[in-house]
Amino acid sequence: MRTIVTYDTHHGTAKRLAEIIANKLGCNCIDVDTPFMAEDETSYDAIVLVFGFRGPYTAQLTKLFLNRMAGKLANKHVIVVGEGIFSDKEFPSVADSLKELAKPLSFHSYFTKGELRMNTLTFEESHLLGKFAELTGMKLADMGEFSETEAGKIADNISEFLAGAPVVEAEVQKRWVCSVCGYIHTGDNPPEECPTCHQPSTAFKPLS
Ligand SMILES: Cc1cc2nc3c(=O)[nH]c(=O)nc-3n(C[C@H](O)[C@H](O)[C@H](O)COP(=O)(O)O)c2cc1C
Repeated sequence: MRTIVTYDTHHGTAKRLAEIIANKLGCNCIDVDTPFMAEDETSYDAIVLVFGFRGPYTAQLTKLFLNRMAGKLANKHVIVVGEGIFSDKEFPSVADSLKELAKPLSFHSYFTKGELRMNTLTFEESHLLGKFAELTGMKLADMGEFSETEAGKIADNISEFLAGAPVVEAEVQKRWVCSVCGYIHTGDNPPEECPTCHQPSTAFKPLS
């Protein structure tokens, strides 16, 4: 199963979660904004998308990302993993709308607690969350409890599902990754030069 894990993060938690999942699956883990992603998505059977909730902007980038690749996800297994501090009830409807956009071959979604790293928040973010704390009576310091154990359980579930899921395209093409910038090339041989960071072909390593 050729799988890629992508994440959309502001403060690093979605990245951490994505890395735990990718580690379990033994696959690459990249930021959704990484340019080569859009060119290479056709070579995956499964895509795991990890994002953190951010109030009114929740999943906005994720939706844009899915819109961009909607047609290409139609034949893939799509797994959406959301994390946040209080939107667990809202998550299923966000997941449903992502499913509607992606029209995937199969769809799974998971929600887990995110983390609030106070020292990384901007003034506006602290202000917004301060207001939220005031309204709900929830202490700011008590918000967010990212758990590696929970993340590990999600990774196990995804791994178990993918192990039994059908592979879409039977033909497995050879792939090469640039060891400097992570650009992925599909073909019998590595390219003469990396189109992203201009390293020579010797910088490319075969990808299993
Ligand atoms: C400005 C801001 C708004 C947030 N809004 C929500 C929200 O609406 N629902 C929620 O569950 N969590 C919310 N959170 C918590 C984040 O989802 C949590 O901090 C998450 O771990 C952030 O992911 P990241 O570290 O990958 O950016 C918000 C956090 C910030 C900073």
